[in-house]
Amino acid sequence: MRMADDPARVVIFDTTLRDGEQAPGFTMDVLAKASLARALDALGVDVIEAGFPIASPADAEAVQHIAREVRRPTIAALARCRRQDIEEAARALAPAARPRIHTFLATSDLHLAAKLHMTRDQCLEAIVDAIRLARRFTDDVEFSAEDATRSDPEFLCRVIEAVIREGCTTVNLPDTVGYGTPDETRDFFAAIRARVCNADRAVFSTHCHDDLGLAVANSLAAIQGGARQVECTINGIGERAGNAALEEIVMALRVRRNRLPYDTGIKAEALYETSQLLTSLTQEAVQANKAIVGRNAFAHEAGIHQDGMLKDPRTYEIMRPQDVGQPAAQLVLGRHSGRHAVQQRCDTLGLRVSQTELEHVYREVIMLGERRKAVGDGDLRRILDRLRTAAEPVGAASAPVETIGYGHGV
Ligand code: KIV
Ligand code: ZN
Repeated sequence: MRMADDPARVVIFDTTLRDGEQAPGFTMDVLAKASLARALDALGVDVIEAGFPIASPADAEAVQHIAREVRRPTIAALARCRRQDIEEAARALAPAARPRIHTFLATSDLHLAAKLHMTRDQCLEAIVDAIRLARRFTDDVEFSAEDATRSDPEFLCRVIEAVIREGCTTVNLPDTVGYGTPDETRDFFAAIRARVCNADRAVFSTHCHDDLGLAVANSLAAIQGGARQVECTINGIGERAGNAALEEIVMALRVRRNRLPYDTGIKAEALYETSQLLTSLTQEAVQANKAIVGRNAFAHEAGIHQDGMLKDPRTYEIMRPQDVGQPAAQLVLGRHSGRHAVQQRCDTLGLRVSQTELEHVYREVIMLGERRKAVGDGDLRRILDRLRTAAEPVGAASAPVETIGYGHGV
């Protein structure tokens, strides 16, 4: 079955190399972009937006390089609704096996008046001309109505109907400033699709920014409203607060399939290494608690949690680290840890400890954890060595009693 024939299939459009790379601190040179594009191909994304060729010669070169080298996914290039932009995008995409020209223009009255100094009619005319021109180069043309979620729905529908009539195959309705809420986004997509008479001839796409931390929730809601392409980025990088994070969307669809019965072509086991590659190419770290790919996403320090994990990982994990390619779950030893986790780490290290020794080691771990972020394997060995070589009898530890309670005693 072709992707377009499967109503449950969501196209993953990755814009890490365009919207993501546009963010301060995330600039990549041509070779770095090409290496990320290869990783995105291996990850299974359907569309790679490789750049905005008119923006700079380096952008154009990167698009061309990727178009030549990465053959399976569709390669998209961004262009404003201007002749020069579209021709430059077409030139950069010339070597591509599956080229897509992605052209955009704002449709909200605010952008038209304040930024573009255009009337609605001028806007519509520029868009129609752009689609006609883009279609001369490729059958695969996407139009984005920038600031769609703050546009007048009546005018937006006129624009959408017109672009589909001109042969546009993907209609993207971006929440450019991250203003929408999930319920609103779902209703927005459902209403627009119901109102546009030729809506069935195009794939509707969502592109959400994270200004209110709702980009992923809004993207999922858009899918519920009928969107079948999601524009997203690795680690959620992008303008301002970023775009919807690819890894979060993919795993939400996978883990909550009962509520979100949609498929992607993503090989989830490659999510972590792709995230790590982006981090190393840009030297921009991912926050520790970032869902799916952060270093704490599968780490447990609280004693009660560690105890649960040791008994059955499903108590505190809704997916396994290996499902997304993360290293095995870590029971981090620190001031919140419990005896079971200390015991387990000693076992893993081949350190056979008696009950009395365990009690001593546990107290020392809690005390050390007061001063340090984490207690490592070397610390455990040293604590035990010291204990065993100490003159005083085992069990007469001098830990102050008031520090013991931090580990919940589990
Ligand atoms: O956020 C936005 O509206 C965009 C468009 C150019 C797709 O990035
Ligand atoms: Zn954007």
